[in-house]
Order: sequence, then C-alpha cells, then structure tokens
Amino acid sequence: MRKLRTLTSVDDFDRETLESLFDRATYYLDNFGKVEWNILRRKRMLSIYCQPSTRTRFSFEAAMDELGGTTLNSQDALISSSFAKDESIEDGIRVLSEYGHIIVMRHKLPIMRQAADASLVPFISAGEATKEHPTQTLLDLFTIEHERGRIDDLTIGMAGDLVNGRTIHSLAKALAQFYSNVRMVFISPPQLSIPQEIKDFLDQYCIEYTEHSSLAEAPLNEMDCLYVTRIQKEWFEDDRDYQAVKGCCVLRQEYAEAMRDDAIVMHPLPRVDEIPTIIDQNKRARYFLQVRYGLVSRMALLEHMLI
Ligand code: NCD
Repeated sequence: MRKLRTLTSVDDFDRETLESLFDRATYYLDNFGKVEWNILRRKRMLSIYCQPSTRTRFSFEAAMDELGGTTLNSQDALISSSFAKDESIEDGIRVLSEYGHIIVMRHKLPIMRQAADASLVPFISAGEATKEHPTQTLLDLFTIEHERGRIDDLTIGMAGDLVNGRTIHSLAKALAQFYSNVRMVFISPPQLSIPQEIKDFLDQYCIEYTEHSSLAEAPLNEMDCLYVTRIQKEWFEDDRDYQAVKGCCVLRQEYAEAMRDDAIVMHPLPRVDEIPTIIDQNKRARYFLQVRYGLVSRMALLEHMLI
C-alpha cells in the first residue's frame, strides 16, 4: 500500500488506502473510550488556520490528543502569525515544519500544493479556497460506507452551493475515480451549478450525472444518499447575489419523506437553513454522526501519515 506523505487533493488517495483507513477508523470507533492509545506519543501536529473552522480543527486536535500526541496551533494565522507580515507561504511553512512532525493547514487561497512542497514534514490540507477539502471527503466516504454498507453502485444527490462548495468538489472527484457505477444527481439553481471542470472530470471516468434546479424537481426517490450543503455566503462579492439564492435548496420534511426509507441525508456542517431542525429526528439524518466519524477518520489518517 502507498503511504501518503501529503494530502492536498482527493487525487492523492487510492482505493486501497481509503479502505485501510476505513478499517482503522472502524477499529477506533469500536474501541473509543475503552482503550488508551499512545501511538502518536511525542509526535506534534502544527495546526494552522487562515480561515474559520470548528469541526475540522477540533477533530484533528482531538484525534491527535486521543492518540497521545500534541498540537501547536495558530487559529487566526492571517492575523496572529508572520503571514500577517506578508511572509511567503513557502518561507512560513518551511520554518513551521521545523517545529513538529505534521502540518495541517486551511487557507482561503489555492496555495496548498505550494505549501506542501515547502514542508519538510507530512502535510494535510484542511480545506483549500473553493477547491477541495480532502479530509472531509474521507469522513464522508467513511459515513456512506458505514451507513450504507458500500459505496459502489449508489446514486448520490448533492444539493446547494455546488460552485463554491469545496466538499462537493472533493466528494464528486473521489466517487468518480475510486468507486464503480456511482451515479450523481446535482441540485442547485443555475448560478450555483457544478463547475465545468468537475463535469469534465466526471466525463473522463464516464460517470452518469443529471442536473436539476431545485429539490422539488429532483428524483429524490432514486437517491441512496443526499448530501446537502450551505450556500457559501463568504464567497459572494455582492450581497444581492447571495440574497437571490439564499434558501434555494431547503430540504423540507416532505422532500426527506419522498426519499427511500434506507436513504441517508448528509451535510458537512455548519448548516444555516438548508436542513430545518425538524429533519434531525428523521431516520435518514446522518449529519451529526458524520462529526463522530470525522474524529475517528482523522485518527486513522494521522496514524497512517505519522507512523
Ligand atoms: C466545510 C468547509 O469548510 O468547507 N466545513 C467543514 O469543514 N465541515 C463546509 C462549509 O463550510 O460549508
């Protein structure tokens, strides 16, 4: 099996590595709270966030802590680190990599490849501009595998901000290249539709997909999984454009009920209004479970990259 040294895109994964990470994540899930792990004792993670984060940052840090390692963190690195003094990404990362054994970084600019190349230690992207979010995809795939028993031969719906949603881009690319007979159903208003670049990628892998402008028009009863996303307000230059699409893909109770009984509803979180809280009680809801799966998936990933 190939050992990952950097993870900046889902293209860095392969199916064998994903499956071994899922096995290990399952082990951590089954034994959580029962075993004291010291596998990452004396290993230090540098956690650098140049954009807000809750789940990704806390789950990486909790994962490190669970495995006996430690974290040094810069939460508002564009304000509180030398990046505020215009230090180049290359110099900043080169220097930081002297202080620990792995770097986990989130940035609003598409600079992950550059940053990873400058690092002397393993490097993980915790979210890059609107491009990719590979570790979210790791936990999303683990969730589908765990909750549906497989990923091949499924129909996955993706709704919301498909143009700015990096979780969508990474998930679509990973499903296309590592799984067979996956169909995708994209749901968004035309202004937020899936980028041509992703469609070209899907075409290369002969993936069947359809596009729909609202949940009301989407074939909800064909989906095994519906992945709902937030409209990414921070990427809109003009607030009027945001207001025009706000609330466009709300999963009303009747839509959730139109899905098959064994279908699942996922969301990377945070949510705004696209999944009303009443759906939290729906048997198809899995988005809070994704949070738990995110912790054990990141434990498996840190172990894989550090040991
Ligand atoms: C996502 C992100 O940062 O891209 N959040 C996360 O990591 N779970 C999704 C989002 O912000 O909408």
